Amino acid sequence: MTSRVGCFVFVQLPSTRETVICGRYELEEIRDGFLGRFVYGRTYLNRPDAVAIDPVNLPLKDTEFTTSKVGGMFGALRDTAPDAWGRMVIERRDRGRAYSELDYLLGSSVLRVGALSYGAGQEVPVLDYSNALSLEDLGAASDAADALEGEIAGEENPLLVDLDRVLDPSSGMGGARPKTVVRDGDGQLWVAKFPSRGDRWTNGITEAAYLSLAGECGITVPEARVVTLGAKKIVMVKRFDQEPGKDEPIRRLFLSAHTLLGLEESVTDRTGWSYLDLSHILRRISSRPEEDAAELFRRMVFNALVSNTDDHPRNHAVLGTNSGDWRLSPAYDLVPSSDRSLDDRRLAMTCGVTPGRERWANRLNLVSGAQHFRLGEDEADEVITTMKEIVVHRWEDHVRSHGGTAQDCRNIAHAIAYEGLEYGTVPD
Ligand SMILES: Nc1ncnc2c1ncn2[C@@H]1O[C@H](COP(=O)(O)OP(=O)(O)OP(=O)(O)O)[C@@H](O)[C@H]1O
Ligand SMILES: [Mg+2]
Repeated sequence: MTSRVGCFVFVQLPSTRETVICGRYELEEIRDGFLGRFVYGRTYLNRPDAVAIDPVNLPLKDTEFTTSKVGGMFGALRDTAPDAWGRMVIERRDRGRAYSELDYLLGSSVLRVGALSYGAGQEVPVLDYSNALSLEDLGAASDAADALEGEIAGEENPLLVDLDRVLDPSSGMGGARPKTVVRDGDGQLWVAKFPSRGDRWTNGITEAAYLSLAGECGITVPEARVVTLGAKKIVMVKRFDQEPGKDEPIRRLFLSAHTLLGLEESVTDRTGWSYLDLSHILRRISSRPEEDAAELFRRMVFNALVSNTDDHPRNHAVLGTNSGDWRLSPAYDLVPSSDRSLDDRRLAMTCGVTPGRERWANRLNLVSGAQHFRLGEDEADEVITTMKEIVVHRWEDHVRSHGGTAQDCRNIAHAIAYEGLEYGTVPD
């Protein structure tokens, strides 16, 4: 990387649906890392309908913002860039090369999440979604994803010769699981998530079942369905950040909790990973703060009830709505963990205030933080009881309704309402 590289940042305005230049981003290699710089354009700042692309870290101001976190990449931009899966897809274009955060951002597909676009020049990029796959391409994309996983594992695979067409559209999405983006006949985008080699259950069915079960528990979820291709089960989840529009798609700004919480990139350091802090931020930026705080509490409880302990801060997000206000996005990436501990399962983020056990998926711990979600303790306890009833009595029906077998149910039974959830609430 040369010492300073950059790009122009474009946003689709929530008011007019017009894509306009909103600022300039630059990334500089410095002695002990990278420094990112962002400035809003003056013309943009003068617009009455300008929206902040991140209301917490990049408010609308005529100033230069800098960050050395996350490789010098501002969270608002980083959230629209690929994670592990999309990066692997990009890296196979030129194996020997060192990629910077900017390379991943500019090298990813236009099907990326959110309302931002990027370009080397000031010309407004065309939102050409024609490289999105159709449902008919799903089999080829799934085979390609499988082949890439094999390639990473060092396997020789004859399929590897021409994977680019089907793999590239997937480079826009975040997350580690093999996936792609599919565009249906109505122009609606879907995230299609494929089986992965390490899966210990049928992920497609399980994820679809968890989403619909969460919906029954009063959580806002995107529509999801399972597509069967031979032995493969693929879960298709409707994209909630994009809607088909008359000419161009209607896009919504997307910010992860990772960005809102101002976190560093680390797999080991969980400092600041907190539902309680996230709730406080939502109360500041959400246009429906009470509703979103209560919804966040339900999601946290759901994750505890179904052992979704991979509920890290990139698995929660807010969306910029029509008026430029922010709301919690629908829930996504709800899956069980393989943790079989009977007494002590931990969520990824702090979910209570029990000293030393703040992440414990346990009723008393969850209730202990209730006030951070503007709930009384009795009210919070009641929410848990109601949701637990639904989860315990309905989870198998949800698995079955998505085509799951008795074996699929047995594979995840350990994840449902594990014993430690109630420790401390009843006499031993
Ligand atoms: N329905 C959706 N609409 C819009 N964006 C979505 C949707 N579902 C997921 N995303 C985006 O895609 C990213 C990856 O999706 P998801 O978290 O489901 O994948 P994953 O590979 O299972 O993730 P992880 O690495 O956390 O296991 C999310 O972080 C989010 O940015
Ligand atoms: Mg995820």
